[in-house]
Amino acid sequence: MKVFTSMTEWQAYRAALKEKPLGYVPTMGALHQGHLSLLKASKEHSAVSIVSIFINPTQFDDKKDFEKYPDDSGSDLERLESAGADIVLLPDSAQIYRDDYRFKLTESDFSRRLCGAHRPGHFDGVLTVVMRLLNLVRPDHAYFGEKDYQQLQLIRDMVSAFFMPVNIVACETVRERDGLAMSSRNQHLDAGQRARAATLYAALKHSRTAAEARQKLAGEGFEVDYVEDIQDRRLAAARLGSIRLIDNVEI
Ligand code: PAF
Repeated sequence: MKVFTSMTEWQAYRAALKEKPLGYVPTMGALHQGHLSLLKASKEHSAVSIVSIFINPTQFDDKKDFEKYPDDSGSDLERLESAGADIVLLPDSAQIYRDDYRFKLTESDFSRRLCGAHRPGHFDGVLTVVMRLLNLVRPDHAYFGEKDYQQLQLIRDMVSAFFMPVNIVACETVRERDGLAMSSRNQHLDAGQRARAATLYAALKHSRTAAEARQKLAGEGFEVDYVEDIQDRRLAAARLGSIRLIDNVEI
């Protein structure tokens, strides 16, 4: 497994890379089975699989959330090595944001709803970093989890709007045995919160309406940001203490 911390070195290597297709999994580290399932999908369809780890500061609307975001690239690298990643990119902020974030990408409709309504600037940060990373890596396929469903839709729309030559592949949400969607944030839940956290999935899946799901969540002590049915999906974000969980199911 090759690891690049210098994006200048990576770009020189990328220019000489002839193998095809290239699969790419962008991450913010704190890797779990969900991330590894994206890598597995990439390995099935690509000659070379590239993973990046970059905790993107511009997508955190809450500074405290950014500061406490788990950062352990040592064990992430071990996991990636044993899962068979070919290349890992570890850029720092100065390299990704050499313009000091003077240039950004904004979507003015769907990104303002759901999570965007509760996290101002979040999707500007996500779309801007994903655009930069896709331009750096120039993959044929890029893999994203369905857990972040709004993010996935916005990335698909961005790629289409800007005629970007990459195939966006959606991968199913990976869940714990009790249904809780895997997330780097789960490790912050205390034992009591962890026991209640699976209610999020159960309420979305087993309620007849979004309003019923919202009621069940409130009854379990969640502070609900939203539960909404959009086309064939029920999407929700809700907090247990300071931990914000999101999930969605097909309806
Ligand atoms: O889903 C994530 O982990 C992040 O939002 C992403 C796509 C890596 C951009 O920072």
